Amino acid sequence: MSNDYTKPSIVKVGNPLYAKHGSSAQSYHFVRDAIEGVKISDLVAQYGSPLFVFSERSLRLKYQQAFKAMQRYYPNLVFGWSYKTNYLNGICQVFHQEGAIAEVVSQFEYEKARSLGIPGNQIIFNGPHKPEGILRRALLEGAQVHADHFYEIEDAEKIAKENGSPITIGIRINLDSGIYPLWSRFGFNLESGQAWAAIRRIAESPHLRFGGVHCHIGTFIMDPTAYSRAIQKLSKLIREAESLVGYNIEYIDLGGGFPSMSQLKGVYQPPEVAISSVEDYAESIGKELQWLASRKPAPKLCFELGRHLVDEAGYLITQVVADKALPDGRRAYVLDAGVNLLYTSTWYKYKIELDRDVPGMMEPSILNGPLCMNIDVVDEAILLPRLPRFQNLILSPVGAYNVTQSMQFIEYRPNIVMIGENKSISLLRRKEGLEDLNRLEG
Ligand SMILES: Cc1ncc(COP(=O)(O)O)c(C=O)c1O
Repeated sequence: MSNDYTKPSIVKVGNPLYAKHGSSAQSYHFVRDAIEGVKISDLVAQYGSPLFVFSERSLRLKYQQAFKAMQRYYPNLVFGWSYKTNYLNGICQVFHQEGAIAEVVSQFEYEKARSLGIPGNQIIFNGPHKPEGILRRALLEGAQVHADHFYEIEDAEKIAKENGSPITIGIRINLDSGIYPLWSRFGFNLESGQAWAAIRRIAESPHLRFGGVHCHIGTFIMDPTAYSRAIQKLSKLIREAESLVGYNIEYIDLGGGFPSMSQLKGVYQPPEVAISSVEDYAESIGKELQWLASRKPAPKLCFELGRHLVDEAGYLITQVVADKALPDGRRAYVLDAGVNLLYTSTWYKYKIELDRDVPGMMEPSILNGPLCMNIDVVDEAILLPRLPRFQNLILSPVGAYNVTQSMQFIEYRPNIVMIGENKSISLLRRKEGLEDLNRLEG
């Protein structure tokens, strides 16, 4: 196996026939024969296809860049790793090693974080469904719990009463930050007065203590100033809440939402042009938070970045298993991976690379997955040279949400590996087999 790092390269394929694609009378496809210096062919030989591959270097780099950018503006900074974005143990551990606490949204995720050795007081607990048992455990273990609705405040009050000492709880808030459609179904709405009612409900309970506010304005937020607008509204609310309860809040949690470098369908510009840098986000946020940053001590500022940290670290290697000429003139390829493994294909147009230069005329092509279902389309319009059977394709970025939302539907889910900083390969999750699935049945 070669240890040389091979830079991805763009190969010119002279073909004036489909010159619409690209700015000159040439067409292009991308060639990448290695990930982090490990040959695609070696990965496939050892772990099969399809295969998810993660880069440890990329995970650490993205984390450090984002943390450093925010740290310039705020002293008391905490990153909670958004488990739902990718909760493979090996991925969570990398972020925990970098200093992230855990951000979870369900009983399963809470238990997973605890099983990874994360203490309760290093866990942020969000989500609209926190059954009483897990809510009790989280509150008594000192987790930072954000109530999503009034029943949860009632449950927390009951738990605190039984426990005999007051319990700290915060609330999730939704608001209009100029991002539409509004994410108004999570937490308490600010503009309607519901968030204020929730704060008062907590403040008036002898068993509860108000801890702080959480607001996740949405995902893939391409406008950094949306955070400024959200913070302006939250700042007013925080001032009012502090004068109601008579003390300073412990934290403000701004959720996640920074975009990754994925190409969104319907966005014409490439991500390198359309996406602002993490420093731009940090600046928009930091400027609005100066009044809290200058407090001694400053309340905690939490982030729960997901896709921004993990998306580019993930690749999916897949192979051509068949090809057909469609009546509309397109060439249709069947790949061994489809929407079963690529939940994000609904929104993203992936970068598609071949692991070698394939000569030949470029043809309008469609990439389908292996599901016996018409919806299984990975890319409906791509120019490719005629690909042979077993040709490897590398899709990226796929590190966010695809693994956690993958479907076990008519296929086994594949091996997932991570290439370490020293180029060693570790198996993060082995391929499923019949025995794994049968074990759950009677
Ligand atoms: C509460 C909460 N925090 C963080 C995230 C991570 O979001 P993103 O991947 O957009 O950063 C999500 C995702 O929807 C979320 O619901």
